[in-house]
Order: sequence, then structure tokens, then C-alpha cells
Amino acid sequence: MRRRVLPLLAIGLIVVGILGILAISILLTTQFGVAGVFQVPPEAATDPGVQNGARIYFTATDSAGRAIPYRGGTVMRLACANCHGPDGHGRATMMFVSPNITYANLTNPEGMLEPDGERMPPYDDATLKRAITQGIDSEGKPLDWPMPRWQMSEDDLDDLIAFLKVLR
Ligand code: HEC
Repeated sequence: MRRRVLPLLAIGLIVVGILGILAISILLTTQFGVAGVFQVPPEAATDPGVQNGARIYFTATDSAGRAIPYRGGTVMRLACANCHGPDGHGRATMMFVSPNITYANLTNPEGMLEPDGERMPPYDDATLKRAITQGIDSEGKPLDWPMPRWQMSEDDLDDLIAFLKVLR
């Protein structure tokens, strides 16, 4: 009897596991919504740098169509827009709250406004690149785990920042 029960138990556990993964994916899709509803403002639509930055922001792929590698972050591959919103204003999900990363907020001379209402020292381009690639915030402290550490070329970083500038 025992020999029969164990394989059944194993199959049962696998089925429960698969159902769990399915449930989580459905939850994530509804939580994060579908990217691509956002339109680049007309004044920036013709700028190739901004366009490249927008593609990175919405798809996390480089100009050759390759997936931009990252460390940390979520197991499920997500682009900036999925976590920070198509307009960059941040969002609250069941797993984390992400900040407003419009350039205007990140570099606000009065301090960057965090979702909890706290103000952090403003970023400049160098510390912003460090945040994106190394996950270090403007105070030199590590960002929470959901924020991936992206391995991006200097040109792509410049374009991504150019795109964060057009977000309002
Ligand atoms: C899986 C979700 C996720 C993805 C994808 C993601 N981020 Fe984040 N990001 C976060 C979270 C959550 C935080 C807040 C971390 C914290 O407060 O410690 C954050 C923080 C940041 C910060 C620092 C802001 C601050 O509060 O100091 C910047 C800048 C940033 N993200 C830019 C980006 C860019 C650019 C991309 C795409 C290349 C990106 N993020 C992709 C979730 C994500």
C-alpha cells in the first residue's frame, strides 16, 4: 500500500505546485496590467535616443532585441514599466510598492518624494545610473530586492534617462 501512496502523493504535490504557479502568474498579470498603453509625447517621438529609452523602459530589451540581463529582482522577467507604471509614477502591488521614477521627481532639488511621503536626497545622472546598475540609492544604501540590478551599456543608460525626462 505504502508504495502506491507515495507516488500518488508526489503527483498530488506537483499538481498543487503547478496550480500555484498558474495562480501567481494570473495574479501578476492582473496586478501589473499590460504595458504599451502609453504613448511617447509627440515632441520626443522623433528623438532616436528617447525611442531607444522607451523600448528599454517598456520591454527591457536592447536595440538588438536581446533581453537586458539583470541580477536580483523578481523571478518573472519584468520591465521598468511593469513595476513603475507606464507613466513612471510608481505603483503598489501585493509584493512591493515602487517609487515615482520620473526624472523630475528623482532629481527634485527639494528631495525625491518616496511613496511613504519621505524625502530622499535628489539623484543626479551619476547616482541614477548607479541605482539602475548597482541598486544603490541616493544615500548610498542598497535598494530593496524587487528592484533588479541591470547590466546595461552606457549608451542605453543615457537613452533610458532621456526617456525618464519625458515622463510627466
Ligand atoms: C520587479 C519590479 C521592478 C522593475 C522591473 C524595476 N524596478 Fe525600479 N524599483 C522597484 C522597487 C520596488 C523600487 C524601490 C526599492 C526601494 O525603495 O528600496 C525601485 C527603485 C528604483 C529606483 C530608485 C528610486 C528610489 O526610491 O531611490 C530607480 C531609479 C529605479 N527603480 C529605476 C528603474 C528602472 C529604470 C527600471 C528598468 C530598467 C526599473 N527600475 C525596473 C521595482 C522595480
